Amino acid sequence: MTTANYHVAVVGATGAVGQQMLKTLEERDFPIASLKLLSSKRSAGTTISFKGEEYTVEEATPESFEGVQIALFSAGGSVSKTLAPEAVKRGAIVVDNTSAFRMDPTIPLVVPEVNEEDLRNHNGIIANPNCSTIQMMVALEPIREKYGLKKVIVSTYQAVSGAGLEAIEEMKQQTKDILEGKDFTPEILPVGGDKKHYQIAFNAIPQIDLFQENGYTFEEMKMINETKKILHMPELEVAATCVRLPIETGHSESVYIETEKGGATVAELKELLATSPGITLQDDPENQVYPMASECVGKNDVFVGRIRRDLDRDNGYHMWIVSDNLLKGAAWNSVQIAESLVKLELLK
Ligand SMILES: NC(=O)c1ccc[n+]([C@@H]2O[C@H](COP(=O)([O-])OP(=O)(O)OC[C@H]3O[C@@H](n4cnc5c(N)ncnc54)[C@H](OP(=O)(O)O)[C@@H]3O)[C@@H](O)[C@H]2O)c1
Repeated sequence: MTTANYHVAVVGATGAVGQQMLKTLEERDFPIASLKLLSSKRSAGTTISFKGEEYTVEEATPESFEGVQIALFSAGGSVSKTLAPEAVKRGAIVVDNTSAFRMDPTIPLVVPEVNEEDLRNHNGIIANPNCSTIQMMVALEPIREKYGLKKVIVSTYQAVSGAGLEAIEEMKQQTKDILEGKDFTPEILPVGGDKKHYQIAFNAIPQIDLFQENGYTFEEMKMINETKKILHMPELEVAATCVRLPIETGHSESVYIETEKGGATVAELKELLATSPGITLQDDPENQVYPMASECVGKNDVFVGRIRRDLDRDNGYHMWIVSDNLLKGAAWNSVQIAESLVKLELLK
């Protein structure tokens, strides 16, 4: 890394992802010359402490980005669509956590362990993939590289923090209400803007984001399309089912893959994943060692376990992939992209 310091802005600094973003910038000691914390009008004027100093949150406007070199956005797609181009116009590089630009072919969609080199083609905006996609990519890339990949079928078990702070509050309040025998009205989950809302406490909801015409939800289509884009494999067969569970943080995934070359043993896959970047292998069934959401919270790695050969196909494998959706799924991946931009000398 160079010794330069950078003018940084965090958009959505008061949100679930924004808060983790600040914690990660602090922990990684990212070289910051100045820091702007931006939100909507609602939180403008509140203060947030960063590295022992108090910062006043400001309302995000186009002018907020004067002099900013890198802007980390996580304030929702419509904010990104409006303000990211304004930030770029003023000379900033934007790392965007929303789905606003992910499928734009001119915008790199990056998981640094997988396709860091795609950053070289940026035009000012870099997209951070969907949280569920990121953790799956980290685990599958080493396998793709060594054995080739033909097919991926994933079912997710996703935490409520993936839907923001309001969803966490809703789950906690509902749990309390149910335990105390009180009535409650679901208002946020599965999707704030959809027609119906359902109980999340003590439940499993097979809907994350809105349904598309093809019967898949937008979250499922994000996993499908983003996987093909990140791996540069439009021909890859991918299917996804995304489910929300009453877990505060930590997404889990049951993933079935078919490789091009069959015959790899489970021991070979374990050895490969244990030595690949960003992965902690937790796979020892005899001693009941496997990844769990509760244990991944606060950690940057992707945890992989329960690796098994399919009983019918010698190129088929099953595994369980877990990660902190607010860290590797959002904040850590964004800060990692910022670190890669510095390393590749792309940050002017
Ligand atoms: N949670 C996850 O696991 C995850 C993962 C990847 C990506 N994302 C994406 O990141 C974004 C934020 O998610 P979150 O979970 O952090 O949501 P959140 O907890 O609801 O926070 C939203 C943040 O955006 C700010 N904001 C809202 N409207 C704004 C506006 N008009 N102008 C400027 N700032 C505004 C809010 O500021 P106020 O305090 O003023 O309301 C708050 O800081 C979403 O697009 C989400 O899809 C989330």
